[in-house]
Amino acid sequence: MTALKNDRFLRALLKQPVDVTPVWMMRQAGRYLPEYRASRAKAGDFMSLCMNPQFACEVTMQPLDRYPQLDAAILFSDILTIPDAMGQGLYFETGEGPRFKKVVSTLADIEALPIPDPQKDLGYVMDAVSTIRRELNGRVPLIGFSGSPWTLATYMVEGGSSKDFRKTKAMLYDNPQAMHLLLDKLAQSVTSYLNGQIMAGAQAVQIFDTWGGNLSAAAYQEFSLAYMRKIVSGLIREHEGRKVPVILFTKNGGLWLESIAEAGADALGLDWTCDIGNARERVGHKVALQGNMDPTVLYAKPEAIRAEVGRILASYGKGSGHVFNLGHGITPEVDPEHAGAFLRAVHELSAQYHD
Ligand code: CP3
Repeated sequence: MTALKNDRFLRALLKQPVDVTPVWMMRQAGRYLPEYRASRAKAGDFMSLCMNPQFACEVTMQPLDRYPQLDAAILFSDILTIPDAMGQGLYFETGEGPRFKKVVSTLADIEALPIPDPQKDLGYVMDAVSTIRRELNGRVPLIGFSGSPWTLATYMVEGGSSKDFRKTKAMLYDNPQAMHLLLDKLAQSVTSYLNGQIMAGAQAVQIFDTWGGNLSAAAYQEFSLAYMRKIVSGLIREHEGRKVPVILFTKNGGLWLESIAEAGADALGLDWTCDIGNARERVGHKVALQGNMDPTVLYAKPEAIRAEVGRILASYGKGSGHVFNLGHGITPEVDPEHAGAFLRAVHELSAQYHD
């Protein structure tokens, strides 16, 4: 394997010294980029991009080619590949978000769910990872990812996106054993899926717990964090002679950072509702932090974006252990020039915080 030319992302996740704060953006390959929209039109639809390793590689590289400041690439795929591989039949209606042909409603439905084999059932993702690694040729590290069991369960039980998670919450409280069985199967599936990505060449992995913050404090511990802890303890943590850092991102999990930091991951993702300096005081001795600019700041002018970047860098303060990112994915309406101003500001303004 080619040596990494830029490893500041991996170094910051392990709190090793860096020259400037590394940066990437959640959803960096996406609809705000005209070149992404052109590739999607060529492929036909979103899932055809994900399922064809050449297309997945092409769109993964687009933000890196446009923005030389990016310190990491993220596999182009989706968290819903796992429920699809479990037989639920994922499809996307344009402008409607994800949908499943089959919904999980009963204990019998859950008992019938298979645990996907990453090579056999998700081979297109493994192929995308190895294709992207080859194309990157050591330029920056490649991030693999999965959804958390709880977040995946919400889509599987609701049959798509939801505002109130009515069916999932009813199942959790009416039939906790069924919910635990579903989450346990998902934890097993996610563990082997992420290990497959690591063996195929992912150099760090992130678990997206997008809807964990929608649970009560007690339910979060029992139905989301417990399963992420189980996954983390089953992951391959070293590959190709290097540590493979793990990032846990619970959106709206700011109240629970202390317990999330005990789950065994190397870093926590932060959304924009918490102050990163305060988060560092609470858990920075244990884990690195990733985040956390409000993605809607990118609607403002470059000077305002730069000021907000400066404020977050100052809040984190001196030293390594910070990966700059948005607090959630970049939105389709953002002007690509503004994303560029954001990335440049991170490198330009952060040198003063590193020796
Ligand atoms: O960060 C990246 O660039 C990697 C690619 C990535 C996508 N989805 C591509 C995508 C990642 C990491 C995801 C994760 C994902 N997918 C999550 C967790 C992260 C988060 O954003 O909270 C969730 C909840 C999903 C499920 C999902 N996929 C939804 C709800 C949608 C529709 C969203 C919308 O804005 O319409 C998707 C589709 C999706 N996944 C798109 C992209 C680029 C847009 C699809 C398109 O091109 O039309």
